[in-house]
Amino acid sequence: MAEYVGAIDQGTTSTRAMVFDHQGRVVAQHQLEHRQILPRAGWVEHDPEEIWQRTLAACREAFDGVELAALGITNQRETTVVWDRRTGRPFSNAIVWQDTRTDRIAEALDRDGRGELIRRKSGLPPATYFAGGKLQWLLENVDGVRQAATDGDALFGTMDTWVLWNLTGGPGGGVHVTDVTNASRTMLMDLETLDWDDELLAVFGVPRAMLPAIRSSAEPAGYGLTSVPLGATRSGTGGADSRIPLTAALGDQQAATVGQVCFAAGEAKNTYGTGNFLLLNTGTEPVRSTHGLLTTVAYRFGDEPAVYALEGSIAVTGSAVQWLRDQLHIIRTAAESETLALRVPDNGGVYFVPAFSGLFAPYWRSDARGAIVGLSRFDTDAHLARATLEAICYQSRDVVEAMQQDSGVTLDVLKVDGGVTANDLCMQLQADILGVPVSRPVVAETTALGAAYAAGLATGYWRDTDELRANWNESHRWKPTWSARQRDEGYRRWRMAVERTLDWVEI
Ligand code: G3P
Repeated sequence: MAEYVGAIDQGTTSTRAMVFDHQGRVVAQHQLEHRQILPRAGWVEHDPEEIWQRTLAACREAFDGVELAALGITNQRETTVVWDRRTGRPFSNAIVWQDTRTDRIAEALDRDGRGELIRRKSGLPPATYFAGGKLQWLLENVDGVRQAATDGDALFGTMDTWVLWNLTGGPGGGVHVTDVTNASRTMLMDLETLDWDDELLAVFGVPRAMLPAIRSSAEPAGYGLTSVPLGATRSGTGGADSRIPLTAALGDQQAATVGQVCFAAGEAKNTYGTGNFLLLNTGTEPVRSTHGLLTTVAYRFGDEPAVYALEGSIAVTGSAVQWLRDQLHIIRTAAESETLALRVPDNGGVYFVPAFSGLFAPYWRSDARGAIVGLSRFDTDAHLARATLEAICYQSRDVVEAMQQDSGVTLDVLKVDGGVTANDLCMQLQADILGVPVSRPVVAETTALGAAYAAGLATGYWRDTDELRANWNESHRWKPTWSARQRDEGYRRWRMAVERTLDWVEI
Protein backbone atom coordinates (compact mmCIF):
# COMPACT_ATOMS: atom_id res chain seq x y z
CA MET A 1 0.00 0.00 0.00
CA ALA A 2 1.25 3.49 -0.86
CA GLU A 3 2.37 5.68 1.97
CA TYR A 4 1.72 9.38 2.26
CA VAL A 5 2.38 12.40 4.44
CA GLY A 6 -0.41 14.23 6.27
CA ALA A 7 -0.82 17.89 7.14
CA ILE A 8 -3.14 19.85 9.38
CA ASP A 9 -3.61 23.51 8.43
CA GLN A 10 -5.35 25.24 11.34
CA GLY A 11 -6.21 28.57 9.68
CA THR A 12 -8.06 31.74 10.67
CA THR A 13 -11.41 30.75 9.22
CA SER A 14 -11.14 26.98 8.83
CA THR A 15 -9.11 23.89 9.55
CA ARG A 16 -8.00 21.65 6.75
CA ALA A 17 -6.55 18.14 6.89
CA MET A 18 -4.69 17.06 3.76
CA VAL A 19 -2.81 14.05 2.45
CA PHE A 20 0.05 14.40 -0.07
CA ASP A 21 1.95 11.89 -2.16
CA HIS A 22 5.64 11.86 -3.02
CA GLN A 23 5.14 14.26 -5.95
CA GLY A 24 3.42 16.75 -3.64
CA ARG A 25 0.01 16.02 -5.18
CA VAL A 26 -3.14 16.20 -3.09
CA VAL A 27 -4.52 12.71 -2.39
CA ALA A 28 -7.30 13.57 0.09
CA GLN A 29 -8.54 16.58 1.98
CA HIS A 30 -11.28 17.79 4.26
CA GLN A 31 -11.97 21.30 5.49
CA LEU A 32 -14.23 22.60 8.28
CA GLU A 33 -14.94 26.21 9.19
CA HIS A 34 -15.18 27.56 12.72
CA ARG A 35 -16.99 30.60 14.10
CA GLN A 36 -15.56 34.11 14.05
CA ILE A 37 -16.64 35.56 17.39
CA LEU A 38 -16.84 39.38 17.29
CA PRO A 39 -17.92 40.51 20.79
CA ARG A 40 -17.29 44.22 20.08
CA ALA A 41 -15.62 46.53 17.59
CA GLY A 42 -11.99 45.54 17.16
CA TRP A 43 -12.27 42.23 19.05
CA VAL A 44 -11.93 38.90 17.22
CA GLU A 45 -12.06 35.59 19.09
CA HIS A 46 -12.08 31.85 18.38
CA ASP A 47 -13.38 29.07 20.59
CA PRO A 48 -10.34 26.79 21.10
CA GLU A 49 -12.52 23.75 21.95
CA GLU A 50 -14.45 24.22 18.72
CA ILE A 51 -11.17 24.44 16.78
CA TRP A 52 -9.89 21.25 18.39
CA GLN A 53 -13.12 19.37 17.62
CA ARG A 54 -13.08 20.62 14.00
CA THR A 55 -9.43 19.61 13.68
CA LEU A 56 -10.23 16.09 14.86
CA ALA A 57 -13.24 15.80 12.57
CA ALA A 58 -11.32 17.11 9.53
CA CYS A 59 -8.47 14.64 10.19
CA ARG A 60 -10.82 11.69 10.61
CA GLU A 61 -12.49 12.50 7.31
CA ALA A 62 -9.29 13.07 5.30
CA PHE A 63 -7.03 10.44 6.87
CA ASP A 64 -9.49 7.54 6.97
CA GLY A 65 -7.75 4.32 5.93
CA VAL A 66 -4.58 6.16 4.80
CA GLU A 67 -1.05 5.05 5.67
CA LEU A 68 0.91 8.04 6.90
CA ALA A 69 4.68 8.24 7.27
CA ALA A 70 4.41 11.45 9.29
CA LEU A 71 2.13 14.34 10.14
CA GLY A 72 2.94 18.06 10.07
CA ILE A 73 1.03 20.96 11.58
CA THR A 74 0.75 24.49 10.33
CA ASN A 75 -1.38 27.22 11.80
CA GLN A 76 -2.70 30.76 11.88
CA ARG A 77 0.02 32.52 13.81
CA GLU A 78 -0.12 34.81 16.89
CA THR A 79 -3.65 33.73 17.92
CA THR A 80 -3.29 33.22 21.66
CA VAL A 81 -4.89 30.74 24.04
CA VAL A 82 -4.28 29.91 27.71
CA TRP A 83 -5.62 26.71 29.21
CA ASP A 84 -5.54 24.70 32.41
CA ARG A 85 -3.05 21.84 32.22
CA ARG A 86 -5.12 19.74 34.67
CA THR A 87 -8.47 19.91 32.88
CA GLY A 88 -7.42 20.88 29.37
CA ARG A 89 -10.03 23.65 29.43
CA PRO A 90 -9.20 27.09 28.04
CA PHE A 91 -9.65 29.98 30.48
CA SER A 92 -11.33 32.02 27.73
CA ASN A 93 -11.72 32.24 24.00
CA ALA A 94 -8.51 32.63 22.02
CA ILE A 95 -7.59 36.19 21.02
CA VAL A 96 -7.12 36.19 17.25
CA TRP A 97 -4.21 37.89 15.48
CA GLN A 98 -6.59 40.47 13.93
CA ASP A 99 -7.89 41.58 17.35
CA THR A 100 -6.94 45.17 18.30
CA ARG A 101 -7.91 45.21 22.01
CA THR A 102 -4.23 45.50 22.98
CA ASP A 103 -3.72 48.80 21.15
CA ARG A 104 -3.02 50.65 24.41
CA ILE A 105 -0.50 48.02 25.50
CA ALA A 106 1.26 48.33 22.13
CA GLU A 107 1.24 52.14 22.04
CA ALA A 108 2.60 52.43 25.58
CA LEU A 109 5.63 50.32 24.66
CA ASP A 110 6.79 52.88 22.15
CA ARG A 111 6.41 55.81 24.53
CA ASP A 112 9.00 54.66 27.05
CA GLY A 113 11.70 53.01 24.96
CA ARG A 114 10.67 49.39 25.53
CA GLY A 115 9.61 49.32 21.89
CA GLU A 116 13.26 49.56 20.84
CA LEU A 117 14.18 46.60 23.04
CA ILE A 118 11.38 44.56 21.46
CA ARG A 119 12.45 45.53 17.93
CA ARG A 120 16.09 44.71 18.59
CA LYS A 121 15.55 41.37 20.27
CA SER A 122 12.42 39.97 18.63
CA GLY A 123 12.63 41.63 15.19
CA LEU A 124 9.03 42.87 15.56
CA PRO A 125 7.56 46.34 16.01
CA PRO A 126 5.27 46.60 19.06
CA ALA A 127 1.80 46.04 17.62
CA THR A 128 -1.56 44.50 18.51
CA TYR A 129 -0.81 41.74 15.97
CA PHE A 130 1.65 39.70 18.05
CA ALA A 131 0.99 37.23 20.86
CA GLY A 132 2.91 38.88 23.76
CA GLY A 133 0.42 41.71 24.28
CA LYS A 134 -2.51 39.31 23.94
CA LEU A 135 -1.02 37.05 26.60
CA GLN A 136 -0.47 40.06 28.89
CA TRP A 137 -4.12 41.02 28.36
CA LEU A 138 -5.31 37.50 29.31
CA LEU A 139 -3.09 37.50 32.41
CA GLU A 140 -4.48 40.86 33.49
CA ASN A 141 -8.14 40.52 32.53
CA VAL A 142 -9.31 36.91 32.77
CA ASP A 143 -10.18 35.57 36.21
CA GLY A 144 -7.81 32.96 37.54
CA VAL A 145 -5.20 33.14 34.76
CA ARG A 146 -2.51 35.04 36.69
CA GLN A 147 -2.87 32.79 39.74
CA ALA A 148 -2.87 29.59 37.68
CA ALA A 149 0.19 30.84 35.78
CA THR A 150 2.02 31.52 39.04
CA ASP A 151 1.05 28.04 40.32
CA GLY A 152 2.28 26.43 37.10
CA ASP A 153 -1.19 25.28 36.03
CA ALA A 154 -1.80 27.67 33.13
CA LEU A 155 -0.31 26.86 29.74
CA PHE A 156 0.12 29.37 26.92
CA GLY A 157 0.08 28.42 23.29
CA THR A 158 -0.51 29.53 19.75
CA MET A 159 -2.67 27.16 17.71
CA ASP A 160 0.22 24.81 16.83
CA THR A 161 0.82 24.27 20.55
CA TRP A 162 -2.87 23.85 21.38
CA VAL A 163 -3.43 21.29 18.62
CA LEU A 164 -0.18 19.41 19.36
CA TRP A 165 -0.96 19.23 23.08
CA ASN A 166 -4.41 17.79 22.36
CA LEU A 167 -3.19 15.41 19.66
CA THR A 168 -0.60 13.98 22.04
CA GLY A 169 -3.02 13.27 24.86
CA GLY A 170 -4.16 16.54 26.49
CA PRO A 171 -4.34 16.48 30.31
CA GLY A 172 -1.88 13.95 31.68
CA GLY A 173 0.03 13.29 28.46
CA GLY A 174 0.03 16.36 26.24
CA VAL A 175 3.35 17.58 24.88
CA HIS A 176 3.72 21.34 25.45
CA VAL A 177 5.89 22.58 22.57
CA THR A 178 5.99 25.20 19.86
CA ASP A 179 8.37 25.70 16.95
CA VAL A 180 10.78 28.58 16.30
CA THR A 181 8.64 30.15 13.59
CA ASN A 182 5.59 30.42 15.83
CA ALA A 183 7.71 31.54 18.78
CA SER A 184 9.19 34.28 16.59
CA ARG A 185 5.72 35.92 16.42
CA THR A 186 5.27 36.45 20.15
CA MET A 187 7.62 39.41 20.90
CA LEU A 188 8.95 37.09 23.64
CA MET A 189 11.69 35.21 21.75
CA ASP A 190 15.20 36.48 21.03
CA LEU A 191 15.82 36.04 17.30
CA GLU A 192 19.51 35.23 17.80
CA THR A 193 19.34 32.78 20.73
CA LEU A 194 16.01 31.33 19.57
CA ASP A 195 14.97 31.10 23.22
CA TRP A 196 12.44 32.95 25.39
CA ASP A 197 14.11 36.11 26.63
CA ASP A 198 13.86 37.16 30.28
CA GLU A 199 13.90 40.89 29.51
CA LEU A 200 11.06 40.47 27.01
CA LEU A 201 9.10 38.25 29.40
CA ALA A 202 9.44 41.00 32.02
CA VAL A 203 8.07 43.63 29.59
CA PHE A 204 4.83 41.67 29.27
CA GLY A 205 4.79 40.21 32.80
CA VAL A 206 4.79 36.64 31.48
CA PRO A 207 5.91 33.79 33.80
CA ARG A 208 8.28 31.44 31.95
CA ALA A 209 6.56 28.37 33.44
CA MET A 210 3.51 28.85 31.21
CA LEU A 211 5.52 28.86 27.97
CA PRO A 212 6.01 25.85 25.70
CA ALA A 213 9.46 24.49 24.87
CA ILE A 214 10.77 25.94 21.60
CA ARG A 215 11.74 23.25 19.10
CA SER A 216 12.83 23.25 15.47
CA SER A 217 10.23 23.19 12.67
CA ALA A 218 11.05 19.63 11.57
CA GLU A 219 12.42 16.99 13.90
CA PRO A 220 13.39 13.42 12.95
CA ALA A 221 12.55 12.19 16.45
CA GLY A 222 9.30 14.16 16.34
CA TYR A 223 7.52 16.08 19.08
CA GLY A 224 5.48 13.02 19.97
CA LEU A 225 3.00 10.49 18.58
CA THR A 226 -0.70 11.12 18.07
CA SER A 227 -2.60 9.45 20.89
CA VAL A 228 -6.13 10.00 19.61
CA PRO A 229 -7.30 7.85 16.68
CA LEU A 230 -7.38 9.86 13.43
CA GLY A 231 -8.36 7.01 11.12
CA ALA A 232 -4.84 6.71 9.69
CA THR A 233 -2.26 4.06 10.38
CA ARG A 234 1.46 4.49 10.64
CA SER A 235 3.24 3.26 7.53
CA GLY A 236 5.35 0.16 7.93
CA THR A 237 3.22 -1.28 10.72
CA GLY A 238 0.79 -3.23 8.57
CA GLY A 239 -2.12 -1.23 9.99
CA ALA A 240 -1.34 -2.30 13.55
CA ASP A 241 -0.30 1.11 14.82
CA SER A 242 -2.54 4.17 14.69
CA ARG A 243 -0.04 6.46 16.43
CA ILE A 244 1.37 8.82 13.81
CA PRO A 245 4.70 10.62 14.37
CA LEU A 246 4.23 14.40 14.61
CA THR A 247 7.45 15.61 13.01
CA ALA A 248 6.82 19.17 11.84
CA ALA A 249 5.20 22.38 13.02
CA LEU A 250 5.48 25.83 11.50
CA GLY A 251 3.44 28.98 11.14
CA ASP A 252 1.26 29.02 8.04
CA GLN A 253 3.17 31.71 6.17
CA GLN A 254 6.47 30.03 6.85
CA ALA A 255 4.93 26.75 5.73
CA ALA A 256 3.82 28.39 2.48
CA THR A 257 7.40 29.59 1.99
CA VAL A 258 8.53 25.96 2.25
CA GLY A 259 5.64 24.78 0.04
CA GLN A 260 6.73 27.32 -2.60
CA VAL A 261 10.29 25.90 -2.27
CA CYS A 262 11.79 29.32 -1.42
CA PHE A 263 14.89 27.69 0.03
CA ALA A 264 17.49 30.12 -1.31
CA ALA A 265 18.17 33.65 -0.07
CA GLY A 266 16.38 36.09 -2.39
CA GLU A 267 13.40 33.80 -3.09
CA ALA A 268 9.98 35.13 -2.08
CA LYS A 269 6.29 34.20 -2.08
CA ASN A 270 3.06 36.09 -1.48
CA THR A 271 0.11 34.23 0.07
CA TYR A 272 -3.40 35.64 -0.46
CA GLY A 273 -5.71 34.53 2.36
CA THR A 274 -7.78 36.55 4.84
CA GLY A 275 -4.67 38.73 4.87
CA ASN A 276 -1.60 38.76 2.65
CA PHE A 277 1.83 37.69 3.76
CA LEU A 278 4.90 38.22 1.61
CA LEU A 279 8.02 36.46 2.85
CA LEU A 280 11.52 36.85 1.42
CA ASN A 281 14.11 34.25 2.41
CA THR A 282 17.19 36.15 3.66
CA GLY A 283 19.39 33.17 4.57
CA THR A 284 20.90 32.22 7.91
CA GLU A 285 21.42 35.78 9.21
CA PRO A 286 18.46 37.90 10.34
CA VAL A 287 18.13 41.09 8.26
CA ARG A 288 16.80 44.08 10.20
CA SER A 289 14.14 46.13 8.50
CA THR A 290 14.19 49.90 8.35
CA HIS A 291 11.10 50.09 6.15
CA GLY A 292 8.34 48.55 8.23
CA LEU A 293 8.84 44.84 7.62
CA LEU A 294 9.23 42.10 10.22
CA THR A 295 12.27 39.97 10.76
CA THR A 296 11.10 36.45 11.42
CA VAL A 297 12.28 32.84 11.37
CA ALA A 298 11.39 31.19 8.04
CA TYR A 299 12.13 27.65 9.20
CA ARG A 300 14.64 25.54 11.03
CA PHE A 301 15.05 21.92 9.99
CA GLY A 302 16.40 19.80 12.85
CA ASP A 303 19.89 20.88 13.96
CA GLU A 304 20.59 22.93 10.84
CA PRO A 305 20.96 26.68 11.31
CA ALA A 306 17.72 28.66 11.34
CA VAL A 307 16.79 30.38 8.08
CA TYR A 308 15.33 33.87 8.42
CA ALA A 309 12.89 35.94 6.38
CA LEU A 310 11.76 39.48 5.95
CA GLU A 311 7.97 39.56 6.07
CA GLY A 312 5.36 42.04 4.95
CA SER A 313 2.11 41.22 6.75
CA ILE A 314 -1.14 42.77 5.53
CA ALA A 315 -4.13 42.32 7.83
CA VAL A 316 -7.05 42.62 5.41
CA THR A 317 -7.08 41.38 1.81
CA GLY A 318 -9.34 38.36 1.17
CA SER A 319 -11.39 39.33 4.23
CA ALA A 320 -12.25 42.62 2.47
CA VAL A 321 -13.93 40.49 -0.22
CA GLN A 322 -15.76 38.61 2.56
CA TRP A 323 -16.87 41.99 3.89
CA LEU A 324 -18.44 42.84 0.50
CA ARG A 325 -20.24 39.51 0.73
CA ASP A 326 -21.24 39.30 4.41
CA GLN A 327 -21.71 42.92 5.46
CA LEU A 328 -22.51 44.85 2.27
CA HIS A 329 -24.23 41.92 0.49
CA ILE A 330 -23.18 43.18 -2.96
CA ILE A 331 -21.90 39.71 -3.90
CA ARG A 332 -23.12 36.26 -2.86
CA THR A 333 -19.82 34.41 -3.20
CA ALA A 334 -16.19 35.51 -3.09
CA ALA A 335 -15.86 34.42 -6.74
CA GLU A 336 -18.54 36.96 -7.72
CA SER A 337 -16.14 39.77 -6.80
CA GLU A 338 -14.43 38.98 -10.10
CA THR A 339 -17.56 38.90 -12.29
CA LEU A 340 -18.87 42.09 -10.67
CA ALA A 341 -15.54 43.92 -11.04
CA LEU A 342 -15.30 42.83 -14.69
CA ARG A 343 -18.46 44.82 -15.51
CA VAL A 344 -16.38 48.00 -15.47
CA PRO A 345 -13.08 48.69 -17.25
CA ASP A 346 -11.40 50.42 -14.29
CA ASN A 347 -11.97 51.59 -10.70
CA GLY A 348 -13.88 54.73 -11.75
CA GLY A 349 -11.61 56.79 -9.49
CA VAL A 350 -12.51 54.78 -6.36
CA TYR A 351 -9.85 53.65 -3.87
CA PHE A 352 -10.72 51.46 -0.88
CA VAL A 353 -8.25 51.12 2.00
CA PRO A 354 -9.60 48.27 4.17
CA ALA A 355 -7.78 49.28 7.37
CA PHE A 356 -10.26 47.37 9.55
CA SER A 357 -7.58 46.31 12.07
CA GLY A 358 -5.49 49.45 11.61
CA LEU A 359 -2.72 49.13 9.05
CA PHE A 360 -0.02 46.49 9.31
CA ALA A 361 3.10 46.49 7.10
CA PRO A 362 4.72 48.73 6.19
CA TYR A 363 2.78 51.39 8.15
CA TRP A 364 2.06 49.77 11.56
CA ARG A 365 -0.66 52.25 12.46
CA SER A 366 -3.26 50.94 14.88
CA ASP A 367 -4.94 54.36 14.75
CA ALA A 368 -5.96 53.87 11.09
CA ARG A 369 -9.45 52.79 10.04
CA GLY A 370 -10.90 51.90 6.64
CA ALA A 371 -11.86 54.47 4.00
CA ILE A 372 -13.45 54.50 0.56
CA VAL A 373 -12.35 57.65 -1.26
CA GLY A 374 -12.80 59.21 -4.70
CA LEU A 375 -16.52 58.41 -4.97
CA SER A 376 -18.69 60.23 -7.48
CA ARG A 377 -22.37 59.78 -8.44
CA PHE A 378 -21.15 57.73 -11.41
CA ASP A 379 -19.66 54.94 -9.29
CA THR A 380 -21.37 51.59 -8.70
CA ASP A 381 -21.00 48.38 -6.72
CA ALA A 382 -18.82 47.15 -9.61
CA HIS A 383 -16.32 49.98 -9.04
CA LEU A 384 -16.23 49.13 -5.35
CA ALA A 385 -15.59 45.45 -6.16
CA ARG A 386 -12.77 46.50 -8.46
CA ALA A 387 -11.33 48.86 -5.84
CA THR A 388 -11.40 45.99 -3.35
CA LEU A 389 -9.37 43.73 -5.64
CA GLU A 390 -7.01 46.61 -6.36
CA ALA A 391 -6.61 47.20 -2.61
CA ILE A 392 -5.29 43.66 -2.27
CA CYS A 393 -2.72 44.42 -4.97
CA TYR A 394 -1.77 47.95 -3.88
CA GLN A 395 -1.16 46.74 -0.32
CA SER A 396 1.12 44.07 -1.76
CA ARG A 397 2.93 46.74 -3.77
CA ASP A 398 3.52 48.74 -0.56
CA VAL A 399 5.18 45.67 0.90
CA VAL A 400 7.22 44.86 -2.22
CA GLU A 401 8.55 48.45 -2.28
CA ALA A 402 9.60 48.14 1.39
CA MET A 403 11.21 44.77 0.72
CA GLN A 404 13.26 46.09 -2.17
CA GLN A 405 14.45 49.00 -0.05
CA ASP A 406 15.35 46.75 2.91
CA SER A 407 17.02 43.93 1.03
CA GLY A 408 18.11 45.41 -2.29
CA VAL A 409 16.48 42.35 -3.91
CA THR A 410 14.43 43.23 -7.01
CA LEU A 411 11.75 40.68 -7.78
CA ASP A 412 11.72 39.51 -11.37
CA VAL A 413 8.66 37.37 -10.73
CA LEU A 414 6.24 37.11 -7.79
CA LYS A 415 5.29 33.57 -6.71
CA VAL A 416 1.73 33.55 -5.38
CA ASP A 417 -0.59 31.10 -3.63
CA GLY A 418 -3.73 31.02 -1.50
CA GLY A 419 -7.48 31.21 -2.13
CA VAL A 420 -7.58 34.63 -3.82
CA THR A 421 -5.19 33.44 -6.56
CA ALA A 422 -8.20 31.70 -8.13
CA ASN A 423 -9.38 35.23 -8.98
CA ASP A 424 -7.90 35.81 -12.42
CA LEU A 425 -8.69 39.51 -12.53
CA CYS A 426 -7.06 40.08 -9.15
CA MET A 427 -3.89 38.33 -10.28
CA GLN A 428 -3.84 40.32 -13.54
CA LEU A 429 -4.25 43.52 -11.53
CA GLN A 430 -1.38 42.38 -9.29
CA ALA A 431 0.93 42.01 -12.29
CA ASP A 432 -0.23 45.41 -13.62
CA ILE A 433 0.14 47.24 -10.31
CA LEU A 434 3.57 45.75 -9.58
CA GLY A 435 4.88 45.78 -13.13
CA VAL A 436 6.23 42.27 -12.49
CA PRO A 437 4.91 38.89 -13.75
CA VAL A 438 2.92 36.85 -11.24
CA SER A 439 3.32 33.06 -11.14
CA ARG A 440 1.04 30.48 -9.51
CA PRO A 441 2.06 26.85 -8.94
CA VAL A 442 -0.08 23.82 -9.76
CA VAL A 443 -0.64 23.08 -6.08
CA ALA A 444 -2.07 26.32 -4.69
CA GLU A 445 -2.45 24.73 -1.22
CA THR A 446 1.17 25.52 -0.49
CA THR A 447 0.59 26.07 3.23
CA ALA A 448 -0.47 22.51 3.97
CA LEU A 449 2.04 21.27 1.39
CA GLY A 450 4.85 23.08 3.24
CA ALA A 451 3.88 21.44 6.54
CA ALA A 452 3.84 18.05 4.80
CA TYR A 453 7.23 18.78 3.19
CA ALA A 454 8.76 19.65 6.57
CA ALA A 455 7.24 16.54 8.17
CA GLY A 456 8.42 14.29 5.32
CA LEU A 457 11.93 15.80 5.24
CA ALA A 458 12.26 15.00 8.94
CA THR A 459 11.53 11.31 8.44
CA GLY A 460 13.36 10.83 5.13
CA TYR A 461 10.16 10.49 3.07
CA TRP A 462 11.78 13.22 0.97
CA ARG A 463 15.56 13.09 0.78
CA ASP A 464 16.35 16.78 0.50
CA THR A 465 15.05 20.14 -0.65
CA ASP A 466 16.19 19.46 -4.25
CA GLU A 467 13.62 16.70 -4.42
CA LEU A 468 10.96 19.19 -3.32
CA ARG A 469 12.10 21.77 -5.88
CA ALA A 470 11.53 19.17 -8.60
CA ASN A 471 7.87 18.96 -7.50
CA TRP A 472 7.23 22.68 -8.14
CA ASN A 473 5.43 23.39 -11.41
CA GLU A 474 3.91 26.59 -12.69
CA SER A 475 0.23 26.47 -13.60
CA HIS A 476 -0.28 30.07 -14.68
CA ARG A 477 1.63 33.31 -15.26
CA TRP A 478 0.10 36.79 -15.54
CA LYS A 479 2.14 39.43 -17.37
CA PRO A 480 1.89 43.21 -16.75
CA THR A 481 -0.18 45.12 -19.31
CA TRP A 482 -0.40 48.66 -17.82
CA SER A 483 1.84 51.47 -19.06
CA ALA A 484 4.36 52.87 -16.58
CA ARG A 485 2.31 56.08 -16.48
CA GLN A 486 -0.90 54.27 -15.56
CA ARG A 487 0.95 52.29 -12.89
CA ASP A 488 2.60 55.34 -11.33
CA GLU A 489 -0.58 57.39 -11.31
CA GLY A 490 -2.62 54.57 -9.73
CA TYR A 491 -0.02 54.07 -7.02
CA ARG A 492 0.18 57.81 -6.29
CA ARG A 493 -3.59 57.88 -5.76
CA TRP A 494 -3.42 54.80 -3.54
CA ARG A 495 -0.83 56.46 -1.29
CA MET A 496 -3.08 59.52 -1.02
CA ALA A 497 -5.99 57.28 -0.02
CA VAL A 498 -3.84 55.60 2.66
CA GLU A 499 -2.98 59.02 4.13
CA ARG A 500 -6.68 59.66 4.66
CA THR A 501 -7.11 56.60 6.93
CA LEU A 502 -4.46 57.64 9.49
CA ASP A 503 -5.07 59.27 12.90
CA TRP A 504 -8.67 58.10 12.90
CA VAL A 505 -8.82 56.36 16.28
CA GLU A 506 -7.60 57.98 19.45
CA ILE A 507 -5.47 55.58 21.46
O1 G3P B 1 -0.26 35.95 10.89
C1 G3P B 1 -1.56 35.55 10.60
C2 G3P B 1 -1.56 34.46 9.58
O2 G3P B 1 -0.78 33.40 10.00
C3 G3P B 1 -2.98 34.06 9.24
O3 G3P B 1 -3.04 33.32 8.09
O4 G3P B 1 -4.12 32.15 6.25
O5 G3P B 1 -4.94 31.77 8.56
O6 G3P B 1 -5.38 33.93 7.46
P1 G3P B 1 -4.46 32.76 7.55
